[in-house]
Amino acid sequence: MDLFEYQAKDLFAKHGVPTTPGRVAETPAQAQAIATEIGKPVMVKAQVKVGGRGKAGGVKFAATPADALEHATNIIGMDIKGHVVPNVLVAEASDIAAEYYISFLLDRTNRTYLAMCSVEGGVEIEVTAVENPDALARVPVDAVKGVDLALARSIAEQGGLPAEVLDAAAETIQKLWVVFTSEDATLVEVNPLVRTPDGRILALDGKVTLDENAAFRHPDHEALQDAASADPLEAKAKENDLNYVKLDGEVGIIGNGAGLVMSTLDVVAYAGEKHGGVKPANFLDIGGGASAAVMAAGLDVILGDSQVKSVFVNVFGGITACDAVANGIVGALKTLGDAASKPLVVRLDGNNVEEGRAILAAAAHPLVTVVATMDEAADKAAELAAAAK
Ligand SMILES: Nc1ncnc2c1ncn2[C@@H]1O[C@H](COP(=O)(O)OP(=O)(O)O)[C@@H](O)[C@H]1O
Ligand SMILES: [Mg+2]
Repeated sequence: MDLFEYQAKDLFAKHGVPTTPGRVAETPAQAQAIATEIGKPVMVKAQVKVGGRGKAGGVKFAATPADALEHATNIIGMDIKGHVVPNVLVAEASDIAAEYYISFLLDRTNRTYLAMCSVEGGVEIEVTAVENPDALARVPVDAVKGVDLALARSIAEQGGLPAEVLDAAAETIQKLWVVFTSEDATLVEVNPLVRTPDGRILALDGKVTLDENAAFRHPDHEALQDAASADPLEAKAKENDLNYVKLDGEVGIIGNGAGLVMSTLDVVAYAGEKHGGVKPANFLDIGGGASAAVMAAGLDVILGDSQVKSVFVNVFGGITACDAVANGIVGALKTLGDAASKPLVVRLDGNNVEEGRAILAAAAHPLVTVVATMDEAADKAAELAAAAK
């Protein structure tokens, strides 16, 4: 999960990383009020989860509250690389003597953590990284040993930071490592990390990605979720602990096991080519338990997608046997009643398959077609979706 700059800075403040005070404004009038409250010149900063906001005109200096009002009026609603700016951070403007770059990230290739640091920070860091890669120090970080003050100082030194700021920079870099580990982040990036004319070090920008697999350790992270931009179907699936990803097609997919669901997407996409190019509408793995409740929750999410014209239930019975899955489907259709309105193609195989098929045959639900093999079932589901388009 990527955070907004203001959320990243809240985490920085929590761990003692120095930054400039500020608050988020939803309206130009609020921006003016916050600037008045701060009582000093401020920066008005677009809050969108993309880089390069400065270059796009989304970061502006405001000497007075009236300037803040004007900039906020221009920036709120602005489009930056396809993201409409919902609000702005109004933060105290800092005097800047130099702009540096520092980040911690997961280096998957080398199976380690990595610190990157450069004396040439600021809005041109991407150019620097390409044209002058030597100016960007890459320092591996041992996951067990972590970053102490000595290593933090060495990272700053390798990045080329001048001697007189090494102590102050080391202290901040060490705290950023604490942010990285104690918040379970996979990225913490500060660009620019600035030196003020009086020798202080401040984080003026912040980019943090949190590892959602560690969410159970951080109940407070849930509040950082961006509800406004979340897909409503994905949100509903999450509430029901379903692994659901919305795609852009017409054939709803339910399967058990991520591998089976992935290959189901492939066979449906392939079969769809023969039927006017229909495609899978989603990824949904109901996992091991295919109870009526789980099946109903899954179907409910899928049928909530107005693009869906047919549903393909593809289950391989293992520990949860096919008869239990069949009962789950019958029970789910009963639970959903009239809400279940689109044709269902069911392919069952594996443990207790005969019993499972017998249960579906006995129920003889008008919406359900049972098909023996995965390829035929995919073809049938695609055909039904194409016919309903
Ligand atoms: N609080 C601030 N005080 C002074 N200058 C700032 C402040 N915040 C940002 N800036 C300036 O604006 C530039 C761009 O802002 P930044 O937050 O890095 O956005 P982005 O990286 O998306 O362009 C920074 O490199 C810095 O020069
Ligand atoms: Mg930046």
